[in-house]
Amino acid sequence: RIAYVNGAYSSVLTPAIRIEDRGYQFADGVYEVLKVSGGGVRHIDRHLDRLGRSLAALGMRWPMGRGPLTQVVRRTVALNSLRDALVYIQVTRGVAARNHLFDANLKPSLVVTVRSLKLPSARERDEGVKVVTMPDERWTHCHIKSISLLPNSLARQRAADEGAREAWLVDRDGFVTEGSSSNAYIVDEEGRLVTRPLGQEILGGITRSLLLEAAEAEGIEFVERGFTVAEAQAAREAFLTSTSAGVLPVSTVDDRVIANGRPGSITRRLTDRLQRLEL
Ligand code: PDD
Repeated sequence: RIAYVNGAYSSVLTPAIRIEDRGYQFADGVYEVLKVSGGGVRHIDRHLDRLGRSLAALGMRWPMGRGPLTQVVRRTVALNSLRDALVYIQVTRGVAARNHLFDANLKPSLVVTVRSLKLPSARERDEGVKVVTMPDERWTHCHIKSISLLPNSLARQRAADEGAREAWLVDRDGFVTEGSSSNAYIVDEEGRLVTRPLGQEILGGITRSLLLEAAEAEGIEFVERGFTVAEAQAAREAFLTSTSAGVLPVSTVDDRVIANGRPGSITRRLTDRLQRLEL
């Protein structure tokens, strides 16, 4: 596998990151994950818009212009000759002797890697997946796509240890925020799609924005509001979205089966519509 690191393309195995990179010592950086299908990078403008918002929120500079960055992403994808893949872009604040204080003029480090995409299995799509809920122990700026992912990683591992595909994180008032690396949705008793509104408590998923556009196009009513675990367990349908998983039906929330345990009709319509938007 070939990676782009600070100006050069080389094997991902080549040592290329400095030990005093602030990404390594302070998790001081942001990232994006983009999907490649049929060799084409999907929704790069939306991802770069979000990258710009993450950088701005942390007072970081762009490592290069948007145009050149787009070229680097395309070139890295081409060098890896993968048709269905995930691109990882990471920007850290730069290299400096370890100190909590930082200089505004540091030169950001840029890494771009690509790896093959493991799509959800046919079984996961047909039967839905299990999620377990747990307290949302992250910070108060979850709208920033920060590389500081320890709480997300621990939550995901705990979910996996409990046999679940994803952890749904729950705020102090009992409302689901999102998954450890995905957004969360239900369909309520009136057949309305429900998902948490944008705010500092969740990452504004690119798939989330595409999904709400798909809902609009399908004439499916949606409301952006929080929902509780009990509400999710009593919902008609539940699902999650992310760049890597697309739309994935949720069949079980904390061992309570959702409806008849099969993906619902709204989930299916949105999945189909989103697939058509992708083509
Ligand atoms: N995760 N919420 C969180 C906390 C996420 O980390 C992600 C994405 C999402 C969904 O966003 P999008 O639709 O833009 O992928 C929501 C990426 C894929 C990751 O960390 O690998």
